[in-house]
Amino acid sequence: MSTPHIEAKKGDIAKTVLMPGDPLRAKYIADNFLENVKRFNTVRNMFGYTGTFNGKEISVMGSGMGMPSIGIYSYELYKFFDVENIVRIGSCGAYTDEIDLYDVLLADKAYSESSYADVQSGDYKDDYTYPTPALNERIETIAEELNIPITKGVIHSSDVFYRENFDDYKRIYRDFNAIAVEMEAFALFHNARVTGKNAACILTVSDSLVTKKATSPEERQKSFTRMMEIALRLA
Ligand code: HPA
Repeated sequence: MSTPHIEAKKGDIAKTVLMPGDPLRAKYIADNFLENVKRFNTVRNMFGYTGTFNGKEISVMGSGMGMPSIGIYSYELYKFFDVENIVRIGSCGAYTDEIDLYDVLLADKAYSESSYADVQSGDYKDDYTYPTPALNERIETIAEELNIPITKGVIHSSDVFYRENFDDYKRIYRDFNAIAVEMEAFALFHNARVTGKNAACILTVSDSLVTKKATSPEERQKSFTRMMEIALRLA
């Protein structure tokens, strides 16, 4: 059964899907970490793959950038392909100098000014959406076992990458406790709630709005691998 944006059969996709923003990142993960890989989607080049990790089935698919994009893909995966767990694995910008480049963060709440949740279900007025506690607990346990430090906190899911008022982040940090910014988690968490499924979001800090430092491509790759080590063990 295909949907407008995913050309696959139900059984082609595993119960757990890891979602980086970039579909080429999904390809990289499939090529370098998974065995017995089969590509299940090429529509709009939003590549999706299913394979095994330590003998267990897992899928990986790009989400695209922003809430409209992850909103479409995660909804179709949950609703039409029987996917139970979606874990976003992405990058974020730090809102405080208490977190460093390459740190691994786990969202325990997503704040957004976005109307996505209210528009989608018609009844959601909260500024925050939430990941699935059981999934977050598993992620924390795995990270501990692997000796990878993670920082939990509020993540800002922004609709706007380039704000005319660059310093707006200071207000969002102060008023909403958001320690970092990305553009997808809020919508993913909402879709998990309305479909009765599970979601989590693990992020690597790729830049800092405070220090204006950014990561190098090689370092990004290395730190990304640490985040992957955690996520793949959710298979
Ligand atoms: N803003 C929004 N999304 C991001 C950023 C940022 O600075 N860095 C990584 N994802």
